[in-house]
Amino acid sequence: MRKRIILDCDPGHDDAIAILLARGCPEIELVAITTVAGNQTLDKTTLNARRVCTVAGIHDVPIFAGSWRPLKRPQITAPEIHGTSGLDGPAFGEPTVGVQDENAVDYLVRTLMAEGEGITLVPVGPLTNVAAALRREPRIAERTREVVLMGGAYTRGNRTPAAEFNMLADPEAAAIVFGAGWPLTMIGLDLTHQAVASGEVVQKIRAMGTDVSRMVTGLLEFYGASYRRSGVAGAGLGPPVHDPCAVARVARPDLIAVQDAFVAVETRGEWTSGMTVTDFRGSLGHPHNAKVATTLDAEGFWDLMLTALQTFGGPAGEGLG
Ligand code: BDR
Ligand code: CA
Repeated sequence: MRKRIILDCDPGHDDAIAILLARGCPEIELVAITTVAGNQTLDKTTLNARRVCTVAGIHDVPIFAGSWRPLKRPQITAPEIHGTSGLDGPAFGEPTVGVQDENAVDYLVRTLMAEGEGITLVPVGPLTNVAAALRREPRIAERTREVVLMGGAYTRGNRTPAAEFNMLADPEAAAIVFGAGWPLTMIGLDLTHQAVASGEVVQKIRAMGTDVSRMVTGLLEFYGASYRRSGVAGAGLGPPVHDPCAVARVARPDLIAVQDAFVAVETRGEWTSGMTVTDFRGSLGHPHNAKVATTLDAEGFWDLMLTALQTFGGPAGEGLG
């Protein structure tokens, strides 16, 4: 039985690759894509989801646009990593895939209340949509099969020394999501920095010779250059592809080892807002509320990814400039 997922994302280079992995791997049925402001403003992240689906020929997965700003804080975006479009690199044409009229938060509440026991929610951007859905209808926490999210870290941040970007962008939302009492897995930076798109990987993708492979290599080249500039990627290494790791955990749980922990999201710290304080040992005296990803089978992950990308077939000639 394929696992049915809703991907809540802010494309974003690694979000784009997460969409492709979710669509391309046989273990998963991608039910819908919901978009949120994060790497760029909502209009841009939504346009980018439509662009990726157009190039990949994904016409039967509805896209719903959601929250345009965090619950409480001023918006932050990540142009230094993802460019001014949020998906700089490839030249995109006009997308032919559209966006639904219904708001993403309404869609999440409606769908999770009706059929949540069969749905895994995979948020890979700031958690604003998911928190807004929980506020609107707290019972979605009992209905949803599980949440597997990309965000946080137990050792270090990336946007600040303490905080990972998705958590820093909307810490209040993240605190609501981690506190909701549903089965939740945190795929944080400690894990995603083991999923490095090396030069060898990029070469293998390029060699596929499809529109999707052209798009993905264009994305990885821009994204890799951003990471090299940021000083995060080591010389000769590639950039970490964060968001597909959450999809991979749903598709193939055996690829990602996890450990139970209590995770609290810092919302008041002077220097540490957005930090995911992770207590593996129980020293804070709180029951575990998350499974936290620790170790990736990187070879298995890239096998899964390359096989998924191969499913997209030859050039369709749509959506790339
Ligand atoms: C996360 O932040 C975004 O820039 C990426 O898309 C990913 O979801 C990594 O910190
Ligand atoms: Ca993202």
